[in-house]
Amino acid sequence: MADLAASHSRLKRTRPTGSVHARSSGPGSTSYDPAVLIVEDEAVVARDLERCVEDMGYEVIASAATSAEALHLASLRRPDLVLMDIRLRGDQDGIDTARMLQERHGMPIVYLTAFSDEATLARAAKTLPYGYLVKPFVSADVRCAIELALYKHAADRQLAIASRLSALGTMAAGVAHEINNPLTYVLMNLDRVTGTLGSWSSGPVAPQVQVAASELAELRRSIDEVVEGVERVRDIVADLTLFGRPADEPMQLVDVRTAISWALRVTAGQLRHRAKVVTELAAVPLVRASDTRIVQVLVNLLLNAVHSLPEHQADQQEIRVISLVDPATGNVIIRVTDTGCGIPAQVLARIFDPFFTTRDPGRGTGLGLAICHGIVASLGGTLVARSTEGVGSTFEMALPAASPAASAVPARPAPDFAARRARILLVDDEPMVLSLVSRALQAEYDVEACASAAEALETLGRDRGFDLILTDLRMPAMSGLELYEQCRAIEPGLGARIAFMTGGSPTDEGILPGWDNPVLIKPFTTRELLQQVHDILERQRARG
Ligand SMILES: Nc1ncnc2c1ncn2[C@@H]1O[C@H](COP(=O)(O)OP(=O)(O)OP(=O)(O)O)[C@@H](O)[C@H]1O
Ligand SMILES: [Mg+2]
Repeated sequence: MADLAASHSRLKRTRPTGSVHARSSGPGSTSYDPAVLIVEDEAVVARDLERCVEDMGYEVIASAATSAEALHLASLRRPDLVLMDIRLRGDQDGIDTARMLQERHGMPIVYLTAFSDEATLARAAKTLPYGYLVKPFVSADVRCAIELALYKHAADRQLAIASRLSALGTMAAGVAHEINNPLTYVLMNLDRVTGTLGSWSSGPVAPQVQVAASELAELRRSIDEVVEGVERVRDIVADLTLFGRPADEPMQLVDVRTAISWALRVTAGQLRHRAKVVTELAAVPLVRASDTRIVQVLVNLLLNAVHSLPEHQADQQEIRVISLVDPATGNVIIRVTDTGCGIPAQVLARIFDPFFTTRDPGRGTGLGLAICHGIVASLGGTLVARSTEGVGSTFEMALPAASPAASAVPARPAPDFAARRARILLVDDEPMVLSLVSRALQAEYDVEACASAAEALETLGRDRGFDLILTDLRMPAMSGLELYEQCRAIEPGLGARIAFMTGGSPTDEGILPGWDNPVLIKPFTTRELLQQVHDILERQRARG
């Protein structure tokens, strides 16, 4: 900042980033008071320009004399528009600065310059400016240039939003297609089961037994297919909810191989048509991370790989995903390699810059790798790229392994070590779920089922001797969370014995990161339910 003080640059009155004031300046921005950054190395011209722009009713947040100052001030104050002189002191002139500002922040630039020669114009045009004013100009010219630039920039942003929405529509159609397939065979198989059962119950008693024997295998197959179909739908829904989760999710111990499978499932539709997918997933230590963020990084890398590959040559192209341990550092390595077009050296140097993209306008934001880089760095890891033009690219993510103590998978004790059957109070307002979950748990536990939180409190009033209170979160009248509060009020230890069930995102239901009580995500199979309840009880016993 020393050079800032030495120059004529001045930071104007503080404007909180993202603040809005009353002023209309273009499509969709009715309450928008534009803030302008002036980049001009002649102090007198800068002052004049400041006064002129302020007289027009805009806010001038600062004026900068050099490229470095402009970049610094722009990232600090996020102006809505930059008035840029082309000739600046130092190595970088206004055109270089404008290019960097656009890449980093996507800000609209209006050049105000004494240059109007072909070469400068051609260089400036490449930065897609929103205006170009040749000195000397009058204040009316500046006003027109600013108004038009703001209006056009707002229109461009709306276009970008529209294109995102259209991408969302495409995705929704794709998801519907993926879900409708398994649903079709679930319904057809259920028809078949119902038909067979119907024919048994309506037939005469003696042949009924023989028919049952011959058709039992068929029925079994139908039911297996129903389970498979429902599991597919469950996986798709899980994949979708992934992206709605907040960025500040709690860190867990993650097996990156699970994240890789998840990412490959999410992108299967796109990968299928472009390449053979090969995986070499060596067993690796757990990492401390948010599984969803690792998946987000992998999805970005996989989609970039897809975009690098030609269409209609899927059998000749390959995307390879590898997990391994770096023997030197002990880090967990994930590599995504493609046989795509590769990245020229001058492009490779810039791929992690925000808004840098070589894709057609409107196709890519250029944010993918910048976001990936940020996520991996926040996990204490690194993300690097290697590429040979015409041969392909490799993106390598290295994540520190969690400490051995944390990674050690606890030995699973024998299930029947307890001297007595554990007692579970089950609470769910959905009668079908209540009855099915209760029946499943009764195989191993003593279960008391309640159809509401009020009923559960009544039961607890008589008897608090439950090892586990397993409650749905979203219930009318009193939610699972309110039941939890009431239980804690009765006896603090009772709150600690609560586990929640939910079909939605726990965060949406008020379970914030860092919460200790376990959450079971619906839907689950009987086996998964018993396993999770078993694990919860084990942890409780270990805690004493
Ligand atoms: N596997 C790859 N092969 C070739 N080029 C790549 C590859 N991955 C990234 N790139 C290059 O890096 C650029 C930046 O990638 P990034 O993911 O940040 O943005 P994008 O894919 O262009 O757009 P977005 O991800 O926002 O939709 C790409 O435009 C492309 O030029
Ligand atoms: Mg991308």
